[in-house]
Amino acid sequence: MTPSVRILGIETSCDETAAAVVEDGRILRSNVVASQEQLHARYGGIVPELASRQHIRLILPVIDEALRRAGVDWAGISAIAVTFGPGLAGSLLVGLNAAKALAFARGLPLVGINHLEGHVYANWVEVDGSPEPQLPLLCLIVSGAHSDLTLMVDHGKFRRIGRTRDDAAGEAFDKVARLLGLGFPGGPAIQRAAERGNPEAYPLPRAELKDSWDFSFSGLKTATLRLVERLRRDGPLTEQQVADIAASFQEAVVDMLVAKTVAAARAFGVPQVALAGGVAANRRLRERLRAECPVPVVYPPPFLCTDNGAMIAAAGYFRFRAGDRAGFDLDVVSNLKLE
Ligand SMILES: Nc1ncnc2c1ncn2[C@@H]1O[C@H](COP(=O)(O)OP(=O)(O)OP(=O)(O)O)[C@@H](O)[C@H]1O
Ligand SMILES: [Mg+2]
Repeated sequence: MTPSVRILGIETSCDETAAAVVEDGRILRSNVVASQEQLHARYGGIVPELASRQHIRLILPVIDEALRRAGVDWAGISAIAVTFGPGLAGSLLVGLNAAKALAFARGLPLVGINHLEGHVYANWVEVDGSPEPQLPLLCLIVSGAHSDLTLMVDHGKFRRIGRTRDDAAGEAFDKVARLLGLGFPGGPAIQRAAERGNPEAYPLPRAELKDSWDFSFSGLKTATLRLVERLRRDGPLTEQQVADIAASFQEAVVDMLVAKTVAAARAFGVPQVALAGGVAANRRLRERLRAECPVPVVYPPPFLCTDNGAMIAAAGYFRFRAGDRAGFDLDVVSNLKLE
């Protein structure tokens, strides 16, 4: 029997300090995420300087805890995988430098991971016996800063076919939630409010962008802002109005995402579609895409949709297996693309 390959995954690209141990690319041995949600909530968004300072405080305890929960010591780790972009430079630097120092001190190989590739590999982490996704895979990567339609043709080989031309889907959720006074992060708050609302209460625009696989959410965001301004002229929004706006907005976002993804699945003839990124946790998006897509749709459980170390470790396993090694000169790349 070949010995197990255990990868320690480290992720600090934004406001989550995260580390995890994954075995053979699929078996989750531990997953520790220290969220900074509380820290940034009162500012209504992430404050980069606060985020990097908090990563410095948390990174070593989070890594120790990931090893402890996995029940392994350093001798049981085969390599360290770490996010080097895209993300906030000051945040990325903390995880990358911790990973380099540990790799040097322990004599372990270092593997650099693109955060978006990590989001896709969250689908490889086995949960309740979930099977391995099939390649080629059409991936809808929808997160706080991205809305990409990407073909994963093989392990580590991606071809982006569409992207957002303005806001990311998660960013639109966050901005509309803030407008409605629903708090931060906005995605889960909009989803909760929408459950009590009527998705047909207010007609909101859907950007079609014909002859392109690109998305656009800024028109919808502005239309929602104008709607709220108009309603507020008659007094503060009622709870029912907030729920109806949340439901109408969410439905518009889901309509746009599902329409393009279903059309692309047909056009490229893929055997499967995968959802990835924080917005992939959205229940309505998951349900509608499964119902309307001509091929099976896979998505990670919600705790693996938002930033975590397990997805980085899973991606790291496949790169490690392919012989991919980073040098100690690896630097962060804030605007790293997956294409
Ligand atoms: N249930 C949900 N419905 C809609 N959006 C959600 C839900 N849960 C989380 N989100 C959104 O997901 C985003 C966070 O996702 P993620 O952590 O992947 O983003 P990020 O890491 O900041 O950005 P990126 O991955 O693009 O670098 C936030 O915008 C949040 O509002
Ligand atoms: Mg992310």
